[in-house]
Amino acid sequence: MNVDEPVIHTHDVLIIGGGLTGLRAALSVFYAGLDGAVLSKVHPLRSHSVAAQGGMNASLANVPGEGSVPDSWEMHAYDTVKGSDYLADQDAVALMCREASATVRELEHMGMVWSRLDSGRIAQRPFGGAGFPRTCYAADRTGHNALHTLYQQVIARQIPVYEEFFATSLIVADGRCTGCTAIEIMTGKMHGFSARATLLATGGFGRVYSRSTNALINTGDGQALAFVAGAPLKDMEFVQFHPTSLFGTNILITEGARGEGGMLLNREGERFMERYAPESLDLAPRDVVARAIETEIAEGRGFEGGYVHLDLRHLGADRIRERLPGIRQIAIDFAGVDPIEEPVPIQPGQHYAMGGIDVGLDGAASLPGLYAAGECACISVHGANRLGGNSLLETVVFGRLVADAIVRDLPQYTVPQGDDAERAVSREDRRIDDILKKRGGEKAFSVKKELKDIMFSRFGIFRNAGDMEAGLTAITRLQDRFRTVSLSNSERGVNQALVRYLELEGMLILAEVVARGALARKESRGSHTRADYPKRDDDRFLAHTIASMSERGIEISFRPVSLGMFSPKERAY
Ligand code: FUM
Repeated sequence: MNVDEPVIHTHDVLIIGGGLTGLRAALSVFYAGLDGAVLSKVHPLRSHSVAAQGGMNASLANVPGEGSVPDSWEMHAYDTVKGSDYLADQDAVALMCREASATVRELEHMGMVWSRLDSGRIAQRPFGGAGFPRTCYAADRTGHNALHTLYQQVIARQIPVYEEFFATSLIVADGRCTGCTAIEIMTGKMHGFSARATLLATGGFGRVYSRSTNALINTGDGQALAFVAGAPLKDMEFVQFHPTSLFGTNILITEGARGEGGMLLNREGERFMERYAPESLDLAPRDVVARAIETEIAEGRGFEGGYVHLDLRHLGADRIRERLPGIRQIAIDFAGVDPIEEPVPIQPGQHYAMGGIDVGLDGAASLPGLYAAGECACISVHGANRLGGNSLLETVVFGRLVADAIVRDLPQYTVPQGDDAERAVSREDRRIDDILKKRGGEKAFSVKKELKDIMFSRFGIFRNAGDMEAGLTAITRLQDRFRTVSLSNSERGVNQALVRYLELEGMLILAEVVARGALARKESRGSHTRADYPKRDDDRFLAHTIASMSERGIEISFRPVSLGMFSPKERAY
């Protein structure tokens, strides 16, 4: 073979992303006897799923005390819809909550080591916005356990995994997605992946923000790939801030810490959540708690630098060591604070994107042949605010269900023409060459840093039109400056600067989508809090924001929410 010949890999189903969603999907494709492959920009065990701490929600049959009613999927659905500020699609929520217990059990049967009650049953802890202790956990390393479990299942079946391949474009031919091009990071060689169906499972875009709990790899690559290929994005203005990220580094300090009884205290030692959520206190949903902390800090009741305390000392050393060993170590290593002895300094940090690629209940995007699941998708189970413990659940439930839908749909997708992939590889090869030849201009780092600061300061927990207009103007200026960015490393192989450049290209697009959606939504709902429109407005905005790319640029429209079992009401906690 000529070394310059394009390398084209052909599979029935291509799964881009090696986290919980991607790996669970790969298993379903395998069970159906089809040829599936996973492509990931990092080794699968370095996917951000590994960092999930607190747990996975499911209405198992545990009862919290004698005589209490057992939990049910309907109660789980109610909490989820209320937590979403009624923006979640209720058919999608019902599907997820119904599948939850079976999903927890399936992971257990695959070998996942859940924490246990003395009775031997899978243990559950209280989480924010939940009317029942419903969050199944593996100490505070639930994602780590789940990801290793699924990865073992994947390698046991020898499912191909293309590790450290960065997808640079989706291949679209005759109005259908037929795979992707991807650069092999080690060699810099461009490969073509030709597939009858392609599933995006690439996670969130938290690193568009400064102060994020997300891994550095969470740059929204899948959302950007889909958007550029013509698939709309949905509800992108809804960005979740986790109340408790560690002051200084913004590493996640799990909500499980408050589930175990941890308390938030301001500089005056006051348990301030009593004023913001008199019933739920520290276990109100994240949007409520994050706003409360920001308000305490803004009104001068935080500590110098902008943080409050999370106090766990009353839980006692044994319980902290048993249930929260991971966050104890993080607090010691990164803040020099042992939670057994001292309160932990915390502040809200970007944590999750409720929005993503607009897909239906089956995970299908509007571009035929393209599917999405997990955080990069918006099937709309979280609406305007996600409940803790529902993300791990979504990844595994919809990894399975969307893969099942692909298996069902596959007969309608013929094997793509090899020429399309070859042409796409040549096009992407030329594009990479042009990037590597650029000289002078700006450095990517400074554009990225400014972008993150703008997103945090203008599109953060509290928003208003003036700040957001200024933010949008600044984003478009950064997009112009990005065109001049050049790299100091012009090698093809192991060029991490090139990967960061390609990520930043997509991040700048996603930032604009967030900005335009946030400006168009003239109300406050869930995580989107506007000082200039402080009330929820169901008459005008009980609707999803749909962002599409047109010749005129990014356009925003609205689509009604799927209601169902629960009528919208004012939220109180
Ligand atoms: O706080 C946490 O452990 C995070 C859980 C989640 O985002 O679901």
